[in-house]
Amino acid sequence: MRKDVRILLVGESKVGKTSLIMSLVSEEFPDVVPYRVEEITIPADVTPERVPTHIVDYSEAEQTDEQLFQEISKANVICIVYAVNNKTSIEKVTDHWIPLITENTDKDSRVPLILVGNKSDMVEHSSMETILPIMNQYSEIETCVECSAKNLKNISELFYYAQKAVLHPTGPLYCPEKKD
Ligand code: GTP
Ligand code: MG
Repeated sequence: MRKDVRILLVGESKVGKTSLIMSLVSEEFPDVVPYRVEEITIPADVTPERVPTHIVDYSEAEQTDEQLFQEISKANVICIVYAVNNKTSIEKVTDHWIPLITENTDKDSRVPLILVGNKSDMVEHSSMETILPIMNQYSEIETCVECSAKNLKNISELFYYAQKAVLHPTGPLYCPEKKD
């Protein structure tokens, strides 16, 4: 059984990484957030899978590339956050974040990725149509979820999926490359 789970949130600036973490912890949407919150540890007994869980924020404004690479290599699961109302932030998932993560993780250790579409309160249509081809292209993507830090929608689910991706990975069973 695993000792603990380390979840890292990355993604473009202003997509809502810090807001997501603070919404989870305080169960309300923070009007003002710092660029980055300190690492948070959730004790085992209040997590769904009963494993101590560390949640790590990233902000380009406060951290160097070197610090980011180090956090990537330490993470057990990485949430790539985009904003559903920001097309560029979706494009950066494949143009920037997935390649960067691949470069900074051990080739043999599969680090599951979760695509997180935040700010679902801002749009009427889901981003899933855009996201599904990406899901099919990268087997390391464990799942995707649309959420809203503002409405507190799917916030606890997001962190549950992240925990589950580490403790019960489905990856090896699901190999889209092998399909025609
Ligand atoms: P950096 O630290 O600069 O990388 O940004 P970040 O990804 O941590 O984003 P942050 O949490 O600072 O949020 C950026 C802005 O988006 C803030 O004004 C938030 O209030 C707003 N925001 C965050 N989540 C949501 C959401 O779910 N819905 C809406 N409408 N706004 C949000
Ligand atoms: Mg931030």
